[in-house]
Amino acid sequence: MATSEPVRARHVAIIMDGNGRWAKKRHLPRALGHQRGVDAVRRVVRGARELGVEALTLYAFSTENWRRPEEEISDLMGLMKRFILSDLDEFAAAGVRLKIIGDYKAFRPDVVELVEGAVARTADNSGTTLAVALNYGAQDEIARAAIKAAAKGAITPDTIAAELDTADLPPLDLLIRTSGEVRLSNFLLWQAAYAELLFTDVLWPDFSVDHLRDALEMFANRDRRYGGR
Ligand code: FPP
Repeated sequence: MATSEPVRARHVAIIMDGNGRWAKKRHLPRALGHQRGVDAVRRVVRGARELGVEALTLYAFSTENWRRPEEEISDLMGLMKRFILSDLDEFAAAGVRLKIIGDYKAFRPDVVELVEGAVARTADNSGTTLAVALNYGAQDEIARAAIKAAAKGAITPDTIAAELDTADLPPLDLLIRTSGEVRLSNFLLWQAAYAELLFTDVLWPDFSVDHLRDALEMFANRDRRYGGR
């Protein structure tokens, strides 16, 4: 399907990278970089909603992030809890639906309980879906989906796609990674098959709604051919 009409991105995903470098540049503790990263999450979720993005998927904690020092993992868990406690009312009232992808049940019981409560509370909302990837790895997701597809009788691209954690979201249109790294780090590997990829040098705590708007404009003007001409 070739098109040169501007196209609106329905599903945007972000690898939020560079919190540590943001802090290091300012001689601040890493934890503060993550804190500013949460401020960016808040801004970008509001912006995505205002800009009409249907689904925003954020890579908050990968299956590889368990290799970080215990103190940093605990900081990240604490930040996620505080984010839910401080922002859920606003997002719920604005029609945001919270969804988790990945094996989040491996987290501390207090985090699991809070997350499940927030997901349940927003389950019937029909505005933007905020999908947060927690203990997520794409290879793990694909393997889990293939097992479920096989149990139902057939392994095909369609039957696997139907079992992915993101099966209820629109197809991924745009995948953004901040901080200058140019790799996917086991994020949404299946879903990225036809997504536009955008790598920016901006560190995640500096990522603004203007950056998101620019990315959406860039997407709208790219010519997607899906292998056709
Ligand atoms: C990458 O920076 C960032 C992370 C591993 C965590 C992202 C998490 C948040 C922004 C906060 C929690 C999320 C939500 C949804 C409330 P890095 O530490 O790898 O940075 P570096 O590569 O510069 O060291």
